[in-house]
Amino acid sequence: MRLGERIREIEEDDRLDPAASRMRALAERLPAGPVRDILHGVQLGHPLHPIMVHLPLGSWLAAVLLDTLPGDHRRSARALVNVGLLASLPAAVSGLADWSSQHERQQRVGVAHAVANGTGALLFGASSAARAFGRQGWGRTLALAGMGAVGLGGALGGHIAYYRAGGANSADYLLDRVPEGWHDLGRLEDFPEGDLGSAHIEGVPVVVTRTGGSVAVFLDVCPHMGAPLTDGELVDGCVRCPWHGSEFRADGGTVAHGPATASLESLDTSVVEGRLKARLPQPDAESGTGT
Ligand code: FES
Repeated sequence: MRLGERIREIEEDDRLDPAASRMRALAERLPAGPVRDILHGVQLGHPLHPIMVHLPLGSWLAAVLLDTLPGDHRRSARALVNVGLLASLPAAVSGLADWSSQHERQQRVGVAHAVANGTGALLFGASSAARAFGRQGWGRTLALAGMGAVGLGGALGGHIAYYRAGGANSADYLLDRVPEGWHDLGRLEDFPEGDLGSAHIEGVPVVVTRTGGSVAVFLDVCPHMGAPLTDGELVDGCVRCPWHGSEFRADGGTVAHGPATASLESLDTSVVEGRLKARLPQPDAESGTGT
């Protein structure tokens, strides 16, 4: 059986649900608002967790490699193990924030991911202690075992990120389904002021916002996990997603609050003789968003 098939079995394993409940309770204690946005990576416009994991993984891998090289690298290797331990904490917290707004099948794999990485961190902690007491052989062995555990954790995290698109921009593929050129969406006055309207371009759903005399058109798919935004609401000049509450500014589609980190895909707009038209954004043209 291939690794991917084995990991998909974890998605169906409800024995992980009690642990998921405990992790959910932990995640709920993370502060809401700007701190949580930072943990998601909203200000970066990119998920923070995959960036944060580089430091512990890189440090630990470097320590394990140093252990294999000729010469005396004991102090450097132990320092790298300790840097990895310190860096693993913020990496875990940012991962917990992302995990808390994922689907059940992703969360089950996320539990296994956390167990593997937690085991890896414990092994590296034991490695650091063994090195401190001069037990270099144990220090190397424990670090090697820790690397195996975090390697497995990385495979599980990769499954969530790539196979299940946790953290990917779920709206991106739709851009390629919108044909070039202007598309008629209907009479402008038929789209409600101060609310979300819906339309389609060749079968591609779009959401229309009219606020304060300006109009905007976005792909009707939340970049976070693909929710239909027209099921959400327009609040304080932002489109709020119905699933996990991400908010996107109606003026441009940028993220006001996560968990989404990617902006809404915004289309150029034009109003001709009272009819709203939209097209794919043109690289060198001013984006038309107005009546
Ligand atoms: S699908 Fe999660 S915030 Fe929109």
